[in-house]
Formats: sequence, structure tokens, C-alpha cells
Amino acid sequence: MGNSFGKLFKITTFGESHGRCVGVVIDGCPAGLKLEKKDIQEELEKRKPKAEGISTGRREEDEVEILSGVYKSYTTGAPICLLVWNKKARSKDYEEIEKGLVRPGHADFTSFFKYGGFSDLRGGGRFSGRITVSFVLAGVVAKKILKERLKIEILAHTIQIGEKKIEKVKISEIRNNVYKNKMRCANLKVAEEMEKLVEKIRREGDSIGGKIEAICLNLPLGLGEPIFDNLDGEIAKALFAIPGVKGVEFGRGFEVVKLKGSQNNDLFRIKKGKIITETNNSGGILGGISNGMPLVVRIALKPPSSIFLPQKTVNVRKKKEEILRLKGRHDACFVPRAVPVVESILAIVICDFAQRAGLIERVISKSPYYH
Ligand SMILES: Cc1cc2nc3c(=O)[nH]c(=O)nc-3n(C[C@H](O)[C@H](O)[C@H](O)COP(=O)(O)O)c2cc1C
Repeated sequence: MGNSFGKLFKITTFGESHGRCVGVVIDGCPAGLKLEKKDIQEELEKRKPKAEGISTGRREEDEVEILSGVYKSYTTGAPICLLVWNKKARSKDYEEIEKGLVRPGHADFTSFFKYGGFSDLRGGGRFSGRITVSFVLAGVVAKKILKERLKIEILAHTIQIGEKKIEKVKISEIRNNVYKNKMRCANLKVAEEMEKLVEKIRREGDSIGGKIEAICLNLPLGLGEPIFDNLDGEIAKALFAIPGVKGVEFGRGFEVVKLKGSQNNDLFRIKKGKIITETNNSGGILGGISNGMPLVVRIALKPPSSIFLPQKTVNVRKKKEEILRLKGRHDACFVPRAVPVVESILAIVICDFAQRAGLIERVISKSPYYH
């Protein structure tokens, strides 16, 4: 299995939805970074299911334990192990799936056969949205390094749920509004409409997808290691580790097929002595290398496959067609919960590239002993 990511800021994730815990080992974090339980707790809070009527009924405490790599509130340079215990797993709800009735649209089918029937199917096992806790844990550390050393800011927000979308939005609205509403949308009016839509779909026993946009500000020019470790390529790869991600586009993305070169080219200008581009159709990346403009990426997430309407499936243990009537606690839409996860993934990738570019020292705080 490919559970690790990164070359210098390297993470290895572990855990399943109904196993004992979910967590991460981070190797390559500089020494001298202030890291306290409360910093991590704040970020975990953002990922928790907030909304009755939208999200899963599973209410986990998600209290982090720092097992290694931190001493007297500072990172030591040793591997950092962070974990969260699973306390509210209710495996009874997954009896049908364990009997072999795989959920259409979920990873139950592929994981069952790939691992010869040994995979943990309870709650989606290793393929559950629960594993994104590990990404948030590593993301806290990466975000802190990037903020402290390079003043990089990463913002994500919901831009579409079903047919409901936001139009233009200001950076200040994203900063101020996203974590003030359940939908993680920067426009509070549209957020209400999105919420009503998801509630309606949930009452129908169905589910719905959506889109997230993420922006990285203050990204230095030169991140990315062409040809195979392009910045956009590695970001896309890491974003696809989020369960349910079905598409990733940068800048104008798929819209470029309709444009002429004269419309798509970002013209260079000089502003206050700095070379910038007039537009940002490239989303801040040229040739797999950051160009100093804001990085803009959009992510399409599918509707959760776990719906409460009866569905035809196959019992893979008996090789027999059956009807699945799902029980349990499922998100009618997981887009809002994925917003902090997207921020975390971006932070992890950018932190790795910043280290590869030599922008982050071994010791991050000022130290008289640093050689
Ligand atoms: C935060 C989060 C929560 C999720 N919750 C659910 C859920 O409640 N029900 C569901 O069917 N899928 C949920 N998913 C998505 C599935 O885990 C995912 O669709 C499944 O593993 C199959 O992978 P794929 O869609 O990438 O092919 C969630 C994903 C995320 C990121």
C-alpha cells in the first residue's frame, strides 16, 4: 500500500475507520517548531462533522495524542507521531457489508478483492473519510512551518454544491466567513441555500457532491521539481488521496479548451519592482514550477456513495445479486468536511517542496547552537 508521501517532509499515515486509531508519523520536521496540543486540536475541530442534517451522526472527540518528536512544546527533529483514538465506531451498522453486500460506488468492492477478502470493511476501513484525520494532523505541522518561515497562507472554501455555486469572492470573505458556517462557504447567503439543498437531499435518503477551491498566497517562485515532480502533478496526486476526489484543476483548468492563446496567456508586468502577471489563468504554476502568483486549484468531490435508498448490488462472498438497504451514519455531502483536509494536503506538499528548494533550515527557531 502507498501510505507515505513526500521526500524531505515525509508523512506516513495509518489507521482505519473502526480500528483503534488514526494517525501519522512525520519525518523531516525541523527542530525548534512550537507545537502544542491546542494548536492541533483547533485544526481537528474544523474537520469534525458540524451539521445535523448534512454530516455523519458519528461524533468523535478527536483528541490528539502527541506520542513522539516533541519535548517541552518544541519539535526535536525526531519523527513526530500524532494519533487520535477512535471511540465512537459502531460496527453493527456494517453487518450487511461485512456479509459481502458491497456498497455501489464505494471502495468495498475493490478492496475486498484486492486484499483477498482480508480488508477491514467496517465503516469503509482504510478507505473511509475518517483517514483524513491523519492529513489534518500532518497539515497542522506543515502549515506552521510555512507560516512561520515563509508567511505562506493557505485558504480553501466550498464554491459549489450540486447546481448551487458562488460567483466572485474576495480573499477577505474567505478569511472571515468560511469557518463561521456549516457549509464552509465564503458567501453566507449562498451557504444557507447550500445547506437547505443538502438537508432536502438527505431527507430523500440521497447524497450530493460539490467543488472546493483552494488558494495559496505568498508562495515563492521556484517550487516544484520538473519533470516528474512538478508542483501541480504532486499536488494533484496528494489531493487524490482524499477519498471521493474525482477531479483537480489549476487556474482556468478545463475551461482552457475553449480559449485562444491570446485569451489564456497571462501577460507579464512589473509592479513595485516585482514581476507579476496581469491575469492568473495558469493558477500560479508554469512548467510545474510556482511563478510567484497565487496558486489556485479546484477540486471536484463526488456525492457520498452511502445512500439510504435501496440499491441493487452483489453479495461478493456468495456471488449472488441482492438488494442493499444501508444503515449507519453517513454524510449526505462531505464537501464541507473536506475543506480543512484540502488545506492540509496543500500545506504538506508545499512544505515538502519548500524543503527541497532549501528554503527551510534544520532548526526553525533562532538558536545560539545552530551550525
Ligand atoms: C471527510 C470525508 C467524509 C466522507 N464520508 C463518507 C460517507 O459518510 N459515506 C460515503 O459513502 N463516503 C464518504 N466519503 C468518501 C468515501 O470514503 C470514498 O468515496 C470511498 O473511499 C471511495 O473512494 P473514491 O470515491 O475516491 O473512489 C467521505 C470522504 C471524505 C473526504
